[in-house]
Amino acid sequence: MKTPMNKLQNNGIPIKKNAQLSIASHNVGDLSETNRALYLQRIRSFVRRSGRSSKAQKRAFESLGPQFKIAYQSSTINWLTAFGRDNCPRILEIGFGMGETTAHIARNRPNEDFIAVEVHEPGIGALLKLIGQIPLSNIRIIQHDAVEVVENMLSEASIDGVHIFFPDPWHKKRHHKRRLLQSPFVALLASRLKPGGYVHCATDWQEYAEQILEVLNIETSLKNITDHYTTRPNYRPVTKFENRGVLLGHKVWDIVFQKKFFPNFPNKRI
Ligand SMILES: C[S@@+](CC[C@H](N)C(=O)[O-])C[C@H]1O[C@@H](n2cnc3c(N)ncnc32)[C@H](O)[C@@H]1O
Repeated sequence: MKTPMNKLQNNGIPIKKNAQLSIASHNVGDLSETNRALYLQRIRSFVRRSGRSSKAQKRAFESLGPQFKIAYQSSTINWLTAFGRDNCPRILEIGFGMGETTAHIARNRPNEDFIAVEVHEPGIGALLKLIGQIPLSNIRIIQHDAVEVVENMLSEASIDGVHIFFPDPWHKKRHHKRRLLQSPFVALLASRLKPGGYVHCATDWQEYAEQILEVLNIETSLKNITDHYTTRPNYRPVTKFENRGVLLGHKVWDIVFQKKFFPNFPNKRI
């Protein structure tokens, strides 16, 4: 028997009829505070995939997890406890997949700390394996829904950048409401950015690229660093998956917005 959609979207807890939201389009920026909170609780932008971890991923998960994973909590992160330092830029990455890009960027930017959020356990094992191999000390992983992490574990104006590379596009129209990048979440993300901080998204799905551009444009505290899409910043490597697509003629759209009223950086870093 199929699980009703409303149960799927609320971690199996039925949603009362009068609490339901009508999200006809992705333009949901004008929700009331109550509806915004409900929206953030209900929609899950991921499904728990059944893929198994390899032996090496499991080993990395068990041996390095205790050192590099931070447990989800409903209070804000203590950066000094988490990274052993709290005086350098902090970048949040949402949905790192198998973590190749995360590790690549963290290796090239040793003076920044990376808080990487993912729910897929084999991917977490894969990133932990890279952390051990390279080795890296500036990544911490949270295995939890990023929406709740941003809402509860990050305080306002506490991060310098956000990376969201190839978020699940949820191709079918009836699934668009599951897309991560929608106005309420963008508003939440923007509130966590320091002035001058940036949001960098990349996608290979044109219609999602248009949506991302639109919802970032709607957020008045952000401004596009170009007029439209931007050329891929050098720090973002081209992944194997992306290369395959490019060979097949698929395009990739990079979008970078910056939080307004900033002093000196991060334009230099982009
Ligand atoms: C299409 S994959 C892209 C992975 C990677 N960024 C890349 O470029 O290859 C999207 C990833 O985002 C993760 N994800 C989606 N929504 C998430 C959420 N709310 N919290 C944490 N991870 C999420 C999924 O588990 C999945 O691994």
